[in-house]
Amino acid sequence: MSHPQTVCITGAGRGVGLELTRRYLERGDRVLAGVRSPETADALAQLSGDIEIHRLDVVDEASLAAFSDRLAGAAIDVVIANAGVLFGWGGLEDPAYTAESWRETLMVNVFGPFATAQALAPNLCAAAAAGRAPRLAIIASRMGSTAEVIGKGNSYSYRASKAAAVNLARNLAAELKSKGVAVGAYHPGWVRTDMGGAGADISVEESAAGLMARFDALTLARSGVFEDYLGASIAY
Ligand SMILES: NC(=O)c1ccc[n+]([C@@H]2O[C@H](COP(=O)([O-])OP(=O)(O)OC[C@H]3O[C@@H](n4cnc5c(N)ncnc54)[C@H](OP(=O)(O)O)[C@@H]3O)[C@@H](O)[C@H]2O)c1
Repeated sequence: MSHPQTVCITGAGRGVGLELTRRYLERGDRVLAGVRSPETADALAQLSGDIEIHRLDVVDEASLAAFSDRLAGAAIDVVIANAGVLFGWGGLEDPAYTAESWRETLMVNVFGPFATAQALAPNLCAAAAAGRAPRLAIIASRMGSTAEVIGKGNSYSYRASKAAAVNLARNLAAELKSKGVAVGAYHPGWVRTDMGGAGADISVEESAAGLMARFDALTLARSGVFEDYLGASIAY
């Protein structure tokens, strides 16, 4: 892996995205950090290194187009579609499952990575044309494993959205392989963030360190993987 790389991360203002940003900067890579609201991205603003903070709402086509225009076709080595939302951990009776929350979940967790791929494919292809090894990482979840959903019966909209995100990653892997871009779907672990909660298994540091190693190991030959932050394959 040659360094430095240019890495674009969505949802970079907090949680796993923020820690990935911090670690890539620490390694000397260049980070294009996408956030919905740069004005309030205080934690990002305090990071030092080769960082550009960009306004990017992954469900807003105008925001995606403006971001893509600003990049002007520049090569990107790694795109990490990390932005995600979760509404409702419960069963059918959970009041979180409104039409509006389903819309938001499917838009952010499914359309979001798709639209990110669509907007940044030219930048990944530019890296391939320059003889680099571009990669697209979609942060899904093991909760999106259709094989593992057996016996669960909860978190309906989130599980459905992440199953779709895995499908999307594998479908994109098929299209982008001939263009020299590798694609993978990843489970970051159950992580102590706003989404994962204080009782989750691992820290953002453990998750981000593991994920970065997985992204470094992603090649065209392995394109289409669905694996966790430690490299264990997950059945889809
Ligand atoms: N934490 C876990 O245990 C866990 C487990 C499995 C998978 N994951 C996945 O890992 C990823 C990161 O999760 P996390 O735990 O770091 O979550 P988090 O702390 O809740 O952070 C979510 C991030 O997504 C951003 N976001 C939401 N909607 C967006 C939009 N429309 N456009 C751009 N950014 C948007 C948020 O930005 P704002 O600050 O603007 O809201 C925030 O930066 C997600 O895809 C999540 O589903 C997490």
